[in-house]
Amino acid sequence: MSSASADPTTPAEPTTAERPRILSGMQPTSDSLHLGNYLGALVNWVGLQEEFDAYYFVADLHALTVPTDPEVLRRRTRITAAQFIAGGVDPERSSVFVQSHLHEHPALGWVMGCLTAFGEASRMTQFKDKTSKGQNANVGLFTYPMLMAADILMYDAAYVPVGEDQRQHLEITRDLALRFNQRFGDGLVVPEPYILKEGAKIMDLTEPTSKMSGSTSPEKGLILLSDEPGRIAKKIRAAVTDTDGEVRYDPDAKAGVSNLLVIHSILSGRRIEEIERDFVGRGYGDLKKEVAEIVVTALEPFQTRMAELLGDPAELDRIVARGAERAHEVARRTVARVYDRMGLLPPVPRADRV
Ligand code: TYM
Repeated sequence: MSSASADPTTPAEPTTAERPRILSGMQPTSDSLHLGNYLGALVNWVGLQEEFDAYYFVADLHALTVPTDPEVLRRRTRITAAQFIAGGVDPERSSVFVQSHLHEHPALGWVMGCLTAFGEASRMTQFKDKTSKGQNANVGLFTYPMLMAADILMYDAAYVPVGEDQRQHLEITRDLALRFNQRFGDGLVVPEPYILKEGAKIMDLTEPTSKMSGSTSPEKGLILLSDEPGRIAKKIRAAVTDTDGEVRYDPDAKAGVSNLLVIHSILSGRRIEEIERDFVGRGYGDLKKEVAEIVVTALEPFQTRMAELLGDPAELDRIVARGAERAHEVARRTVARVYDRMGLLPPVPRADRV
């Protein structure tokens, strides 16, 4: 064992690892991830795992901010992990785990809460939006961003691949890391967001000025990664467009059509201008038909793999257990380092007790 790993308060410097680290998570809030999660984040996760030492987790503790039936939460946690892998995350290469399997996450979340001003937390838009819509908020929803900051800072993540909607959470995470470093010495890596320009915000099919969201979009506005081909085609056929009739990318004036073009472009790998040219003189019906075909084709192997993974829950549980072990190696060191810097008295090792 190297001297660095013998002393848990020594930072596990990301630069000494073979590859710099990245981390991201998704909440298990429905029975399937949706196309926004896929194009805004998962596709990106898959691409980044070659270059980075990646940690991808199911944010089940965050999901507790919305009351959920225990059996349903367990099922959704497995489904979410299976969908990461079905989408191309390789659990041999990247650590795939479940947030609640590591007690270090809430421990560091507490520390982050103690570094956050009450007013700062009150200004977070997610909390403000949900409470203004009358959601009966709990304290967990209020402290949600601090737990998320802990998730990220735990792994000395250089980058955090997420969709646009998570930007504010990353900003507070950076602020907290900088604050900690200023008060206690350089102990935390200040992460950069990694947000793609295209796909960063996939819109609701029925209301294309709002993001596609598992918690607020109606069923018809969402394409679930588990939807059958017929259902996908039906939802895309019914997608809201406009009356102008021209297939053109203009997210302000033509939100619905632009959303379909973005989905097409990411999945077909073609530039939006090229697709626009293909559709000169053709109507929205044709565009919808083609987008539906592309989505169905892209999701076919995904759905087959997902069914295989969910058919063997014991193997899936082993995969996330291995991921948690790997994550724990980093997490325990970060918490020890942070506790030490802040002046928390270290426990006496078991062997030294009289
Ligand atoms: P969540 O579960 O809402 O979303 C998971 C990922 O999907 C992205 N996303 C979208 N991207 C494009 N268009 C959309 N319509 C769309 N909807 C969702 C999100 O940006 C996200 O990348 N707070 C996080 C979970 C979390 C986390 C973390 C993420 C907890 N701890 C640490 C990163 C790092 C969330 O609720 O994501």
